[in-house]
Amino acid sequence: MNEREKVDKTRRTLVAATSVVGGAAAVGAAIPFVASMLPSGRARAAGAPVEADIASLQPGELRVFEWRGKPVWVIRRTKEMIDSLKAVVPNLTDPESKASEQPDYAKNEFRSAKPEFMVMEGVCTHLGCSPQLKPMEAKGEMGADWVGGFYCPCHGSKFDYAGRVFRGAPAPTNLPVPPYTFVSDGQLLIGEDKEKKGA
Ligand code: FES
Repeated sequence: MNEREKVDKTRRTLVAATSVVGGAAAVGAAIPFVASMLPSGRARAAGAPVEADIASLQPGELRVFEWRGKPVWVIRRTKEMIDSLKAVVPNLTDPESKASEQPDYAKNEFRSAKPEFMVMEGVCTHLGCSPQLKPMEAKGEMGADWVGGFYCPCHGSKFDYAGRVFRGAPAPTNLPVPPYTFVSDGQLLIGEDKEKKGA
């Protein structure tokens, strides 16, 4: 029996078995076809939203999650980090993120849905290296006016705590912000920006 005949036979069997529940017969008969159309596990992993537990994230701490094969950073910003965002504005290439990538709810002075939590892709917009967290304490290395942020070791691009690039850097735009949703205070869904109840 070839594949086609096998499917037809399955369909006949399912129709006979489910005829009492009407419409369900069509659903049952369709299963062999739908199953073959499902994306592979790899494809699902590549695009599916990722749950991020941030309940234990401490002020100033950065945690890395993986979404679509890319590192996504969640940083819980301290008050000092939030305050630094205003101070650096005159030195930024795109302070209002007009030419940069982020969802509408992150197109504000904090580049985030909640000022305390910054979510962004840890991938430099120049040639894709991963920038490093350089807190204010790294002044000796970064320069006397450094207020904290990120530094890309590949070609020297600097970013603030909202991922906004400093002027003069080779990176053309700010670090991208992926879509995300707060499912609760301590849990994020990265890759999903549907408004959820209780978010
Ligand atoms: S890849 Fe980051 S500055 Fe070039």
